[in-house]
Amino acid sequence: MKKVLIIGAGLAGCYLAARLQNDCEVTIITKGERAESDSMLAQGGIAAALDPGDSPRQHAQDTLAAGQYHNSIAAVEQLVTAGPELLAQLIRQGMQFDHDEQGQLDFGLEGAHSYHRILHADGDQTGAALTSFVQQQLNNVTWLTQTNVLQLVVEHHRCRGVLVRKTGQATTTIINGDAVILATGGLGNLYPYTTNDDTVTGDGFALAMRAKVALADMAYVQFHPTLLMIDHQCYGLITEAIRGAGARLVDENNQRIMATVPHHDLAPRDVVARQLTKWQAAGHQLFLDISDVPNFEQHFIGVTANLDHHHIPFRETNRIPVQPGAHFMMGGLRADLNGQTSLPGLFAIGEVACNGVHGANRLASNSLLDCLVSAAKAGETITQTTPLTATNLTTTDALTSEQSRPMAVNLPSLAELQQQAWANIGIVRQPAKLQAFINWLAQYHLAELVPAQLTDAQLTIVNLGLCAELIAKAALAEPQNLGANYLVKES
Ligand code: FUM
Repeated sequence: MKKVLIIGAGLAGCYLAARLQNDCEVTIITKGERAESDSMLAQGGIAAALDPGDSPRQHAQDTLAAGQYHNSIAAVEQLVTAGPELLAQLIRQGMQFDHDEQGQLDFGLEGAHSYHRILHADGDQTGAALTSFVQQQLNNVTWLTQTNVLQLVVEHHRCRGVLVRKTGQATTTIINGDAVILATGGLGNLYPYTTNDDTVTGDGFALAMRAKVALADMAYVQFHPTLLMIDHQCYGLITEAIRGAGARLVDENNQRIMATVPHHDLAPRDVVARQLTKWQAAGHQLFLDISDVPNFEQHFIGVTANLDHHHIPFRETNRIPVQPGAHFMMGGLRADLNGQTSLPGLFAIGEVACNGVHGANRLASNSLLDCLVSAAKAGETITQTTPLTATNLTTTDALTSEQSRPMAVNLPSLAELQQQAWANIGIVRQPAKLQAFINWLAQYHLAELVPAQLTDAQLTIVNLGLCAELIAKAALAEPQNLGANYLVKES
């Protein structure tokens, strides 16, 4: 049987595991617990042309327009045509999406969609419902939780396994596999304001960079317009579906912030995030006005619980204090339509991959769909074409004892790195600042540090720092402003 190592416990990794578990020996390796991933936090939903009045063509057009036509047309075609069938299959297996009063699937609207095509589960808890549903199907999989992947093991130009270490421990172990799949998600924790789970720290991009695996589109980081903001701290996502249901962005004077922008509050995310940044720079505060949202508390159960938890008096004011923050990485490991990267034996699926489907700005609620589609395609390829490898790597004591000795290293603190990233590779960028940021990072020689010689906390900083460098260099190299990569000469 082929040995398959899946790194990451979100929807893409678990869905792939579910599809492979009867044909392959599957191990899921995750640095946190099973329930820790961005997929579990996804509120907005999953977009698919399932309504008879909608069509994959229309969904493709919206995806391309939001992506500023920087997308791979083939990847978009694959998403919008394969996605609805996979979703229909899950529904047949018992996955429950929300229905309207007539018992029909209840399709919601989000930014830059021309049709109500977003399915939700348990209101604003779609990601948790869907990922848990898929995880419940896993009955023939080995889980390695609290396990950090330090390095890809490459032999004869093929990925043959991973070097791992349990959280807080020193011993490293090599696990071999016929196929290694990165499903590690994004890099939101590079920034001080993010919607991402604490475990999402750019590990997949850093692993790829160290192994010289091709990366693409690293300039394109999506900032979500609305995170709950209290005293300069963010406390989770305020889903765009609330704007889809009629909420408006306003300032402290109740002035509508998006009034003069095409598509207003439902413009693409990059456009909304930049407009909010402009407004903030002029000294304004940002709020989401929910006065016109019917049945807010019934529809947005998770958001309501979060607001209550933080004592936000939204019932009296009809306002939620918000702030844009890092949400999703459009770039990543360059992957073909089957998730194959530039390194044989290594696949990338979900957010860590860049198959071009999202272009320069992801369309809302396309990411959970991409998790399903990219995982399904990779699964087919792994069963059909991945050869069994001859070598059998084992734990290497020499490597273990030698490499796990901690070294004194000069690193910025995580908070310092995050502040620098926000200031220099955030929503609006400047060429001079990008260059200065690259110079600042260079003093730490991040690419020369050996992961097994770092503590878990140091490794997080190094991985995020490497991502920052990739983003800054890519942002400078892009020939023009496009989607989420927006440069101005000076502020
Ligand atoms: O606003 C949201 O609920 C986010 C959805 C998404 O990123 O797709």
